[in-house]
Parts: sequence; structure tokens; C-alpha cells
Amino acid sequence: MKHLSVRVVLVSLLASGVIAICSSTAMAQDAAATYKAKCAMCHGPDGKGSTMGVKMGAHDFTSADVQKQSDAQLTAIITNGKGKMPAYSGKLKDSDIAGLVAYIRTLK
Ligand code: HEC
Repeated sequence: MKHLSVRVVLVSLLASGVIAICSSTAMAQDAAATYKAKCAMCHGPDGKGSTMGVKMGAHDFTSADVQKQSDAQLTAIITNGKGKMPAYSGKLKDSDIAGLVAYIRTLK
């Protein structure tokens, strides 16, 4: 029993260390994958908006109108939704949303 719990602690320490080391590079990849899976159907693979998304009122992520908004404003829209944009609070972690905002910045 004692032996087992020591192993559990060691494994979880190791895992959190690995996650910490990988998270900076993994975050960018995760954000791209999350974007593709959850956002691209409305916002388009390049952020310019899909036919359906533009009809619903989505704006071109590469445009100055979107890029001039602060990280806090973009985070709030993704978290709380806006118009026909669904809210992602509870569906995505704050860190995922932060990653998506950073990803949107790369599209300009
Ligand atoms: C069902 C379609 C749909 C999905 C899925 C969707 N959005 Fe949106 N999104 C919209 C619409 C429509 C707007 C415009 C809202 C408005 O201004 O009324 C919007 C607005 C935004 C904005 C503000 C800039 C703009 O275009 O007005 C951001 C940032 C954004 N979405 C990010 C995301 C992210 C990140 C995801 C994936 C986690 C996502 N959206 C998923 C439809 C969608």
C-alpha cells in the first residue's frame, strides 16, 4: 500500500513536470486543433469566416476591427458568447480560451 502511494506521487510529479515543459509548445498546437474542431465551421480555417459564420454575423479575424479589440474583449466574447456566437464557459478551460485568443492574434 505504502509502496503504491509513493509511486502514485512520483508518477504525478513526473507528469506535471512533463506537462509544464511541454505546455508552451503544446498550447499553440492545442489551440490550433481546438480552433479547427470547434471554431472553424463558423470562423473559417483562416479566420476570415465560413459562409455560414459570415451569414450569422462573424467578423474577419484578420481584419483591424477584430484585431483592435483587446485580449480581454476577445476572451469575454469567447467565454460569454455574443449574438449567435455560442458561449464556451464551462466547455473550454480558461487556459484553452487564452490559447485561442493568442491563436487569433496569429491570423492577422
Ligand atoms: C455557430 C457558429 C460559431 C462558432 C462555432 C463559433 N463562433 Fe465565434 N462568432 C460567431 C458569430 C456569429 C460572431 C459574431 C457575434 C456578433 O458580433 O454578434 C462570433 C464572434 C467571435 C469573436 C469576436 C470577433 C467577431 O467575429 O465578431 C471571436 C473572438 C470569436 N467569435 C471566437 C470564436 C472561437 C475561438 C470559437 C471556437 C471556440 C468560436 N468563435 C466559435 C459564430 C461562431
